[in-house]
Amino acid sequence: MTALAKGRNVFGWPLTLDPKEVGRARELVHKALAGYQLEPTLLDDTVLAVSELVTNAIRHGTPPIELAVHVLYDRVRICVADASPRQLVPGQPGSHDERGRGLAIVKAVTDGRWWVTTRHPGKEVWAELPRPATKLPRWLVAGVPGQASGGHNPPAPIYT
Ligand SMILES: Nc1ncnc2c1ncn2[C@@H]1O[C@H](COP(=O)(O)OP(=O)(O)OP(=O)(O)O)[C@@H](O)[C@H]1O
Ligand SMILES: [Mg+2]
Repeated sequence: MTALAKGRNVFGWPLTLDPKEVGRARELVHKALAGYQLEPTLLDDTVLAVSELVTNAIRHGTPPIELAVHVLYDRVRICVADASPRQLVPGQPGSHDERGRGLAIVKAVTDGRWWVTTRHPGKEVWAELPRPATKLPRWLVAGVPGQASGGHNPPAPIYT
């Protein structure tokens, strides 16, 4: 299962159906991302998207529910999986509609970069938020001091 994959810059948690899990998910993600010095808006938007997708999985999906967050060089990727085969139904909420806003919010904060993949049983809902390119230290781009490459042949950076 992708969502529970753990590794470098990947965080995963199983969640229960308790509505309090939404708050816990927000806290877990906030804590996990605290060390990455993400822009505050990116951190807030990531937590917001997590909140909407986890709420949906609890309210409309079927357990087991799993959440994963992957911090990449140029983006933060979220995955929320649940075991229901029911498909998502993105709406176009009007200003007076109280429901149907969750996926519209996810669409807005991800610039439309969210999608669904099938798993058996159920599905994985993915969302990606762009991250401004991490500034690499000058010495890494220019080569190791004393063995300068003259900037013509910099070592390939490791992005994740
Ligand atoms: N994980 C899911 N499993 C099954 N159906 C889902 C799931 N997520 C969303 N849906 C379906 O997609 C619809 C739209 O989701 P969306 O989050 O936009 O609105 P909502 O959850 O109905 O309301 P709101 O998020 O504003 O409280 C839901 O009403 C539901 O029918
Ligand atoms: Mg919703």
